[in-house]
Amino acid sequence: MNKQRILTGDRPTGKLHLGHYVGSIANRLRLQDEYECFFIIADLHMLTTKQTKQDIAEAPQNIRDLVLDQLAAGIDPNKVTFYVQSAVKEIYQLNLIFEMLVTVPRLSRLPSIKEMARAARLEEEQIPFGLLGYPVLQAGDILLPRAHLVPVGKDNEAHVEITREIARRFNHLYGEVFPIPEVLVPDVGTLPGTDGQAKMSKSLNNAIFLSDDAATVEQKVRSMYTDPNRIRADIPGRVEGNPVFIYHDIFNPNKEEVEDLKTRYRQGRVGDVEVKRKLAAAINAFLDPIRERRRQYESQPGFVEDVILTGNRRMRAVARETIAMVEDAMGLTYFRD
Ligand code: TRP
Repeated sequence: MNKQRILTGDRPTGKLHLGHYVGSIANRLRLQDEYECFFIIADLHMLTTKQTKQDIAEAPQNIRDLVLDQLAAGIDPNKVTFYVQSAVKEIYQLNLIFEMLVTVPRLSRLPSIKEMARAARLEEEQIPFGLLGYPVLQAGDILLPRAHLVPVGKDNEAHVEITREIARRFNHLYGEVFPIPEVLVPDVGTLPGTDGQAKMSKSLNNAIFLSDDAATVEQKVRSMYTDPNRIRADIPGRVEGNPVFIYHDIFNPNKEEVEDLKTRYRQGRVGDVEVKRKLAAAINAFLDPIRERRRQYESQPGFVEDVILTGNRRMRAVARETIAMVEDAMGLTYFRD
């Protein structure tokens, strides 16, 4: 029972898609037996760019969807602690202490902050203090359960680096409390969108969701971007960098079929229709067990809510332990009764 710990998670901003699966869910599935896992639903991080009452009112359904998507994908609720960030108040405490251990220029230089501001349509002067502090809050998430490993997408790698710096700084100032966590990013590249854009994303409207039904997948694959120069099936096509073949490589376990399609595509001996029909079939075969598990969980009312409430309690116990260690190490223990 002395397993190392994982902390990872997501903002509750919508349903999970194939890009999330490739970018982080696959690693979570692979590691859930080996590690003691904590999966955060980072609703306070959501507030850095979405803080209206309307945004907050949408959070509970997004939180349910996020947990159900992961359970459907095969994450075992008996092995993993799912919890809602705002329900574990110790994060506010750790966040404030960590804010003293990193400089403003270090945070200002991060491309991810500018990228999030751009995505939220914020000008430089409109960036909230809290968005600048996004990686500090994330360091709090990771170090609150004293995690050893953080599986994330490539876009979060720099935030784990900040976390390591904060952990080192804390340990140097006050004594060894935190492990220096390792980052784990998937070796497969970022999954492109169905429209050929570099990244699959809900806001770009180019995503295939884990919860899409078979007909929706067929329709999305049919309209996928391929080789734009190939206006007829008898023209040799480009396989490299072609989203249809990137997806085939990842989701079609029939390697012979994929090689045959690639060969004929390069020779101008196969139509897009056949390539896409076989891709839709492969993605649907991949999603079928996920659909089946979703049905099973959905047939148990209150199951997801229960997983979250149990997780919150478990995380709170761990968090209290860490905060006690932190305050003891710092000597921040005076005038308590
Ligand atoms: N920043 C992550 C995202 O891009 C969400 C997140 C918040 C997170 N806290 C975390 C990821 C801690 C890993 C570890 O959505």
